Amino acid sequence: MKDRLIVALDTDDGEDIDWLCATLDETVRWFKMGFQAFSALGMEAFPWFKQNGHKTFVDLKFHDIPNTVARDVGMMTKHGAQMINMHASGGFEMMHAGRKSAESVATEKGIPRPILLGVTVLTSIDENGFQQNFGSERELTKQVIYLAQLAQEAGLSGVVASPLEIEPIRKACGHDFVIVTPGIRPAWASAGDQRRITTPAEAIQRGADYIVVGRPIIEAEDPLEATEMILEEMKGVS
Ligand code: C5P
Repeated sequence: MKDRLIVALDTDDGEDIDWLCATLDETVRWFKMGFQAFSALGMEAFPWFKQNGHKTFVDLKFHDIPNTVARDVGMMTKHGAQMINMHASGGFEMMHAGRKSAESVATEKGIPRPILLGVTVLTSIDENGFQQNFGSERELTKQVIYLAQLAQEAGLSGVVASPLEIEPIRKACGHDFVIVTPGIRPAWASAGDQRRITTPAEAIQRGADYIVVGRPIIEAEDPLEATEMILEEMKGVS
C-alpha cells in the first residue's frame, strides 16, 4: 500500500517540506509537487527525492498549445519526474505531443518513461457545479469517461479522476489504464473544497491504482500518525 499512497506537498514553505519529508521518510514512497512545492524546491527536488529513495509526481497540470506542453513534459521527464499530468481538456493533439516528447526524452536519456496522466474533471466540482460552469450537455461522469478515452487514444498511461468514477473508467479503458484518485477523505477529516470524495478504503476497494492525500496528512496535528492510519485503512481492504 506504501506504493499506492501519494502525499501532496501543498505548501511553499521549504522548511515545512523538509520536515514533512523527513517525518514521513520511511512511511511514504511517493510525493506530489504542485506549484507551491515546485516554487520552493525547483529542479533541485528531483535529485533530492531520488537520493532519499522517493518517487516524484509533478502535478503542474499542463494545459497549453501542443508545442509548449511537449517542451514542459520533456523537461520534467529529463529531470527525472516519475509521474506527470496534463489537462485532458487540452485535447488529443496536446496530450499526444506531451506523450511523444516524454518518450523521446526517456529513450534519449535511457531512463524509464514516466507515468503520464490526463486530468479529467477536478474532484472539487460536483454535478451542479459542472453544469453551471461548463454548460455541458453531458453528465459529469460521461465527461470524465469521454476525457479518459481521449487520454487513452493519445497514448497516456492513465487519468486523474474521482474514486467515484473508477468503475466506468475501467469499463471504458480497461484494467491496465492507471487511475489516480484525489478527493480522498478519511472519516475523521473534513472535506474542505473537495466534492467527489471517498475514504481511502473505499477508493482502494473500488480499484484505484494510487490515491492522493494532501490536507488530511499535511495539516494533521501528527502527520506521521495520520499517514499510518490511512495506510492501515488501505491495507484493511486487500
Ligand atoms: O488536500 P487534498 O487531499 O484535497 O489534496 C488533493 C491534491 O490533489 C491537491 O494537491 C490537488 O491539487 C490535487 N488534485 C485534486 N483534484 C484533481 C487533480 C489534482 O484534488 N482532479
